[in-house]
Amino acid sequence: MMKAIIAGTGSYLPKNIVSNDDLSKLVETSDEWISTRTGIKERRITNQETTTDLAYKASVRALESSNIKAEEIDLIICATMTPDNFMPSVACVVQEMLGAIHSAAFDLSAACTGMIYAMSIAEQFIKSKTYKNILIIGSETLSRILNWEDRGTCVLFGDGAGAMVLTASEKSNGILASTLYADGSKNSILTCPAIPLDNPYNRQSKNRESKIKMEGQEVFKFAIRSVTKCIKDVLQKADLSPDEIKYIIPHQANKRIIEQSAKYSNIPEEKFFMNLQHCGNTSAASVGIALDELAKANKLNTGDYIILVGFGGGMTSGAILLKW
Ligand code: UT7
Repeated sequence: MMKAIIAGTGSYLPKNIVSNDDLSKLVETSDEWISTRTGIKERRITNQETTTDLAYKASVRALESSNIKAEEIDLIICATMTPDNFMPSVACVVQEMLGAIHSAAFDLSAACTGMIYAMSIAEQFIKSKTYKNILIIGSETLSRILNWEDRGTCVLFGDGAGAMVLTASEKSNGILASTLYADGSKNSILTCPAIPLDNPYNRQSKNRESKIKMEGQEVFKFAIRSVTKCIKDVLQKADLSPDEIKYIIPHQANKRIIEQSAKYSNIPEEKFFMNLQHCGNTSAASVGIALDELAKANKLNTGDYIILVGFGGGMTSGAILLKW
């Protein structure tokens, strides 16, 4: 059976580092509060580059590490909730920048679970033999939709992009199981409105600001429940036990969410990879950046079982289990 294997990974973070101490000059907060409540020490905040620029730079690196040429890419999916335009999509502009002239391209909106949704969709195209090589990107400039006066959210997020090239293979490696969920009944606990309805027939809703609002504790509880369930799902589907898993790469939102998820999943915390200390929460980019960091640090060996798991606005959640 045809499988989707990861042929290469890449990531890119803007150069500008913003520490917790830097943020304490903007809002009433402290390194002590942010570190102990979230595990985050610093994040990157773009001062020039767009979501498309970050996506392009991560993609170049993913293509380089895959040995697959841009012209061989059949499809580009960019998961983002901070696109630069309603149209064209980030994916279409990146296609042009890369010279991926034979690919279809679209953006995908599943908030912080975007990369997991994108991988699952790409897997279907590969399994059905529709496409051979697919470039997936998670790219975000969350800094543009943060309320920089709200200390409850602005300290959590960062900008960045992660990318990977999936390719068709008949080997036993690759994606073995996936699971996706959405619970629209909780859509109001994590929101960011788009532009208001404003036309000659309706001039009433001009005050909607495109800024993130969050009920932190509700998201926190949802996250732990979802991560635990999604991990259980993919283990069951792949008929594997937690002991056989080398790494779990969770969405990088909060160290305490990850610790609690490890506890409820009965999986040692050391297996959960964390890089939120230096990236913050980069939304759809986080799992891709983390996977690239692990891969580039030579911590993954052929045959290792890995779970990628995410949750986010919507509320969405999902996981992928793969054999490296
Ligand atoms: O991709 C998904 C995105 N979101 C998440 O994953 C977020 C999930 N939720 C969380 O991570 C946590 O709920 C937070 C880190 C956001 C907040 O932690 P918490 O332990 O739930 O704190 P809290 O909201 O209950 O606030 C406790 C106190 C409050 O003060 P009072 O009312 O007790 O006086 C807050 O005003 O901490 C205050 N506070 C802060 N203090 C210093 C909230 N943010 C800050 C801050 N610095 N940055």
